[in-house]
Parts: sequence; structure tokens; C-alpha cells
Amino acid sequence: MTDQSSDLRESVRRNYAAAAIQVTEGAAGCCGSDCGTTPRTAVDIDENFGSALYTSSDRDSLPAEAVAASLGCGNPTAVAELREGERVLDLGSGGGIDVLLSARRVGPTGKAYGLDMTDEMLALALANQKKAGATNVEFLKGTIEAVPLPAATIDVVISNCVINLSTDKPAVFAEAFRVLVPGGRVGVLDVVADDALSPAQRAERGDYVGCIAGALSFSEYRRGLEAAGFTDVEITPTHAVADGMHSAVVRATKPAAASGAPATDA
Ligand SMILES: C[S@@+](CC[C@H](N)C(=O)[O-])C[C@H]1O[C@@H](n2cnc3c(N)ncnc32)[C@H](O)[C@@H]1O
Repeated sequence: MTDQSSDLRESVRRNYAAAAIQVTEGAAGCCGSDCGTTPRTAVDIDENFGSALYTSSDRDSLPAEAVAASLGCGNPTAVAELREGERVLDLGSGGGIDVLLSARRVGPTGKAYGLDMTDEMLALALANQKKAGATNVEFLKGTIEAVPLPAATIDVVISNCVINLSTDKPAVFAEAFRVLVPGGRVGVLDVVADDALSPAQRAERGDYVGCIAGALSFSEYRRGLEAAGFTDVEITPTHAVADGMHSAVVRATKPAAASGAPATDA
């Protein structure tokens, strides 16, 4: 990792640590806005991000702090069509909102993993898991560029407004491919830029930690997923988050015949 990437990752970590602390104490730094410093119970983000993008029945069924910490750009559990018994991995799980919703959808025979690099977010997520009484949930500390799970152990990879924050997106796509079983799928929400926007033009529209400057374009996203081995890539914009930039649903499949399954004794 270059010094510049490692500085960027550290500023992302610091901002989201502050956002986790804000849920109870008041701090600053999150997607899509200039976060203030006044104590409050929900992170201060604009209407294009956060818990307003969930149905009221989803929100009402969760601990208030999981809802308050929501920083995503959609509801990936609604797009991933989760089924009973599936194993789900949420890349950049934050306060745990999508992990808790996934856990409910996959039921006691399934499992929902949340992965995040920020200790303060993991602490908040664990507290939310306890409040929700969810037993089929595990939060892992690590980065989405080096997922601490074995190959071919996950049925569905979800993520909510996090991949744009990665300084090594090819590694994220390769790791998602590695951990999925053959036939497994990706159902992600992320910020995506119009192909016409250069990286400099994306950076004019918002900062990196605010989920704007690091966004891939539609073509870059598709090429990145296909280079990792994914097929059936679909990227569908849902709403604008800045001029020429969108929240989008990203779907892809790991081919059923793909390698990546653990070696078995023949
Ligand atoms: C915009 S918030 C989204 C949180 C959550 N998905 C949600 O919808 O509320 C970004 C989260 O991703 C985590 N994150 C950012 N980059 C990461 C990386 N490279 N590896 C692991 N976690 C990362 C941050 O710590 C933070 O919790």
C-alpha cells in the first residue's frame, strides 16, 4: 500500500470512528454531508444516505442505535433477495443495520457476518447485536481488501456505500469472488459516477470520506467485477447523490463452474 492510500484509509477510519461515537456522544464525519459537532443521537447526513432509505417496518424492528448509525445509500438486504439458511457477508458493516436485517432474513439456519476495520463501529455493532438478541451473527475485524474468511464459504456478499471508500477496489472484488461459493451472488449498494466524469470532476462534487470522490464510474465498476471473474453484472441507479453521481444497486454472480471452492479429499 502506498503512503497516500494508507493516509486515505486512516482518514476514512478516523471519520467513521467519529460517526460511531456521535451516535451516543456527538462528534463528526460521515457520508454525504458536512457533519456537525453538536451532540445528537443520529449521525447527521443528508436525505440521500442513511436510515430514511429503509422501510419503517425495517427501522422499527431494530435497536435505535443501529438505525441511528445507518450511513448507507440504500437497503442491500432488500436487493439481495436473501433466503432461509444462506450465509451473508456485509463488507463495511458499520453499526450493523444490514447484518441484523440479513440475520432475520436468513433465519436460525443461516448466518450473517459483518466485517469492518473501525473498532468504534465494531463496538457499536456488537452492542446492537446484543440489544437485538441476534445469535446467528458474527462481527469480524478486518479490511474488505483482505477478508478474514476462508474461500467459498459465503452465499451472498452485500455492502452499503463502502466499496467507494476502498483504496484498492480490485482487491475488494477479488476477495468477494474468493469468499463466495460457486453460484454465489453480490447485492451491493454503492455510489457510482457517470462515465463522463473524470476522477477530478468526481472529487469536485464531494470528498473521499463522504463517499463521493472515490466512486467508480459505471464502466469502471463493471470492468472491475468482470476482471475478478463475475458474470451477469447489472448496475442500476436508484437516486442522485450529487451532479452526475448516483446511488446504485450492483448485482453480479460468481459462475457456478468457477474455481475458488476449497480443495476436497477425493
Ligand atoms: C459509509 S459507512 C457504511 C456503514 C454501513 N454499511 C451502513 O450502511 O451504515 C462505511 C463503513 O465502512 C467501513 N470501512 C471503510 N473502508 C473500509 C475498509 N477498507 N475495510 C473495512 N471497513 C471499511 C467504515 O469503518 C464504516 O463503518
